[in-house]
Amino acid sequence: MPEKTFARLLAIVAIAVSTVVASGQNAPATLTIHPDQPTSTVSPTLYGLMTEEINYSYDGGLYAEMVRNRTFRGDWSGILYWYLVEDGNARAKIEVDESTGPSSALPKSLKVNIEQADAKNQAGVLNVGWWGMALHRNTIYKGSFYAKAGSTDIGPITVSLVNDNTGKAVASATVDGIGTDWKQHTFALKTGEIEASASNHLVISAGRAGTLWLQLVSLFPPTYHDRTNGFRKDLMEKMAAMHPAFLRMPGGNYLEGDHIKERFEWKKTIGPLVDRPTHRSPWNYQSSDGMGLLEFLGWCEDLHMQPLLAVYAGYSLSQEHVNPGADLEPYVQDALDEIEYVSGGPDTKWGAERAKDGHPAPFKLSYVEIGNEDWFDRSGSYDERYTQFYKAIKAKYPDLQLIATAPVKSVKPDVIDEHYYVRATQNFHDAAHYDTPDGNSSSMQKWDSGHFDRADRNGPKIFVGEWATREGSPTPNMGAALGDAAWMTGLERNSDLVVMAAYAPMLVNVNPGGMQWETDLIGYNAMKSYGSPAYYAQVMFASYLGDHTVASRLENGGEKLFYSATLNTAKKQIYLKLVNASSDAQPLELAMPGVHVAASARMVRLSAPDTQTTNSIEDPTRLVPVESTLHNVNSKLMVTLPPYSIQVLQIDLQ
Ligand code: AHR
Repeated sequence: MPEKTFARLLAIVAIAVSTVVASGQNAPATLTIHPDQPTSTVSPTLYGLMTEEINYSYDGGLYAEMVRNRTFRGDWSGILYWYLVEDGNARAKIEVDESTGPSSALPKSLKVNIEQADAKNQAGVLNVGWWGMALHRNTIYKGSFYAKAGSTDIGPITVSLVNDNTGKAVASATVDGIGTDWKQHTFALKTGEIEASASNHLVISAGRAGTLWLQLVSLFPPTYHDRTNGFRKDLMEKMAAMHPAFLRMPGGNYLEGDHIKERFEWKKTIGPLVDRPTHRSPWNYQSSDGMGLLEFLGWCEDLHMQPLLAVYAGYSLSQEHVNPGADLEPYVQDALDEIEYVSGGPDTKWGAERAKDGHPAPFKLSYVEIGNEDWFDRSGSYDERYTQFYKAIKAKYPDLQLIATAPVKSVKPDVIDEHYYVRATQNFHDAAHYDTPDGNSSSMQKWDSGHFDRADRNGPKIFVGEWATREGSPTPNMGAALGDAAWMTGLERNSDLVVMAAYAPMLVNVNPGGMQWETDLIGYNAMKSYGSPAYYAQVMFASYLGDHTVASRLENGGEKLFYSATLNTAKKQIYLKLVNASSDAQPLELAMPGVHVAASARMVRLSAPDTQTTNSIEDPTRLVPVESTLHNVNSKLMVTLPPYSIQVLQIDLQ
């Protein structure tokens, strides 16, 4: 489970197995499972992660950088998130200087022209951070900036973290030796016995008249696994609890960009930060590209996930596409280079580049996705584009599994990526979506115009690369969690076909203006984060995955009862997921004929009084799973599933 707080909240309650007879409950249902009859395999990679630069998922989220707009972009209103500081009678002006910067990627800079200042009355700039800067007591924050001065007379530069409410510096450092050429300078800011708060900002100032240029101002808190340029600890811990097997990276729409020139150009996201020009995300804000290709791979390494690499395939969201054939060749080569950067040995051209960037060991890569949601491409060019990538990649990497994002006829894709964004009611229907290869799909309405033929067992494998029950904002409520859980029972039952699936999007900054897409799994502000009920449903399902489904039969289950039964062969355990989406309690008789089971079983349950009940940044643990022990278990038992409940039952076989 993700965090100590949550662990403390887990009430370990011993309850006797009993038959509950009460009003307001459904007729009893019977579930017969045969643990000794494995039926189909469950993919070990079934559950993974998907997000992108949306909802301030990286900048202002997972990527722990505390400075907002560290490269000084401006608009008509001024330099975004930066303000002039003039203490006392100090006087200064700031502007973006387009004529000088520390690198060709960052050719501009912030010019601070200080007309008057002294040691007590300093002038400079302040940055407000991502809706504040979270500071904790006795903590070291490591920072850096590139700077140069009109003359060395500029003297020492003061860097301080200042509390918004008191105006007092809570940590301060001086940086000496600013010369007349661009150079990176580092500093460390240590807090004392402060009260943790996000009401802080960063001030950079000087105490003498002169001209100072700044670029790439950066400040990091301690990060997960102490990575330089790393990730927020709380968010990484929450993701680790989801036991993800893969990361689909770098997105989504984010891969494509609104325009071809705004695609995720991976070569511009590697190497020193000063060589990354930044780019506009299709979610209407600039990406710092601090989360570059190697950072995504580091994220995979930290959480023991395999990368599922999506390569740009020549289509961008505003209906721009690259013609298949000669025009597309450079993009195909770019994808081949990218694959080599990820998985090639240090003796290859791009593997050597990765080694130079600090990671000599290649990453294991099994899946490459070609494009994203290419059914939106009205030119109809995807079949040819996919085929061109497919042939070139397979020629060099025959073992890679290549994922298509829309139907393709010219070659048979290894895997098809399907996306579903639906309401809970839809997911109650769709729980049966993959149950039979020729099932009646008339009740199923796909999310948009991306119509795929109904998948069968002889066609490509399925990757449900994006899915979510979209109810609740910014994060899903219990009704959505029930829809998700019902859907996941169907994924598990059909995981011989559905080899991977990922909820999307995963992250949202809950501050005003932070969200571009409603219903995201995990919410946060600068200071803290929380998991939604749907997040906990994911944690529960992925924590008890199993490797095979077992033969089973449900009778009198009604329309709001969903289940999956899987076996962990090595541990000799049955994992039974039971979802009661009804407002009434559901008595259930469980029968496991012909097997002996341990007398006690573990139950993990998430339940709520109403579908609208939810967690929030103010009330982060209103709904959390509760663990209990069932006693007197044998091969026949009665359980009662409370209204609006999701449970995992772990039964040990003997
Ligand atoms: O997850 C949000 C968006 O939904 C993704 O960027 C895109 O692939 C889909 O349309």
